[in-house]
Amino acid sequence: VANEKESMYLVSEFAGKYFHDILQNSEEGKAIGLTYFKERGFSQDTIEKFGLGYSPNVWDAFTKEAIDKGYQLEFLEKTGLTIVKEDKQFDRFKGRVMFPIQSMSGRVLGFGGRILTNDKKAAKYLNSPESEIYHKSKVLYGIYHAKQAIAKQDNCYLVEGYTDVIQFNQAGIENVVASSGTALTPDQINLVKRLTKNMTVLFDGDAAGLRASIRGIDLILEAGMNVRVCAFPDGEDPDSFAKKTPLEELVRYLEENAKDFIQFKASLLMKEANNDPIKKADLIRDMVVSISKISDRIKREVYMQECSRIMDISEDVLFNTLAQIDKKEI
Ligand code: CTP
Ligand code: MN
Ligand code: MN
Ligand code: MN
Ligand code: MN
Repeated sequence: VANEKESMYLVSEFAGKYFHDILQNSEEGKAIGLTYFKERGFSQDTIEKFGLGYSPNVWDAFTKEAIDKGYQLEFLEKTGLTIVKEDKQFDRFKGRVMFPIQSMSGRVLGFGGRILTNDKKAAKYLNSPESEIYHKSKVLYGIYHAKQAIAKQDNCYLVEGYTDVIQFNQAGIENVVASSGTALTPDQINLVKRLTKNMTVLFDGDAAGLRASIRGIDLILEAGMNVRVCAFPDGEDPDSFAKKTPLEELVRYLEENAKDFIQFKASLLMKEANNDPIKKADLIRDMVVSISKISDRIKREVYMQECSRIMDISEDVLFNTLAQIDKKEI
């Protein structure tokens, strides 16, 4: 129902303002939340721009205030801000710093909440559950602030996390969005594709996610976009790297280290194969599957040549493999 969604938007907007106000004006918010953000190097302007907040470390502080202000429990529950168990109500984000997640047009759809302790048993980030207004697979964090810059720069940086987006913005690079730690979806790619055909994927410098993310990138190729990738030094992510690097140097790093995805993947796979012929055969197939996602014939041809060179395999073999893949998929 349209009315129901509108009520959910209003509750979410109220929550964003409430958490932000608590961060800026309450003793607890200032002492814990604001201190945390300042330690991460976020300026007051940045905190305002992204509407960052803090949720009090009390079971139902937010829920009580919302009910007091006339918001209905039904919508507090439907947005996931309040968890109702038996007849008791709990704040989902109790004691966390808050990152509101905005739509392309700037409406608050949901939240990410980061824990402040080093408790390894608790999830570092807690996110709003799927709801009628928040579909995780259709949203990119930061898109509201990025859309103009993406069109202007004709390129979009894709990062993993909230803080990567925020730190880049603070550094002066605004054409950046985050998949928020999940595999990229076609809906998310389409949000960007309306603005540019060029995507640069920035990986955290931990090997773990690399292979997994690489699979997701095939989707960007399939959408007909150009993909470049840029890795960061071991243990760094775009946030930590941008925080300690002057803008000029950061821009230079991105320019010098962004590699065409196909070339990047071919070199990476070759390193992994380590001259093992059986592995190499698998990897060549894997590589050609990526190339088969490209519908532009000339681009395909160029990539086949490069792949042949990088992987040291004849073009004939590659084209035969491609023909097999095309047949299977039709
Ligand atoms: N994420 C999540 N739940 C988790 C861990 C991560 O939803 N338990 C999502 C968050 O959107 C996070 C992103 O995945 O921003 C990337 O994860 P990670 O690199 O671990 O976090 P950072 O963004 O680097 O966060 P921080 O710097 O605060 O540790
Ligand atoms: Mn403010
Ligand atoms: Mn990571
Ligand atoms: Mn980080
Ligand atoms: Mn990270």
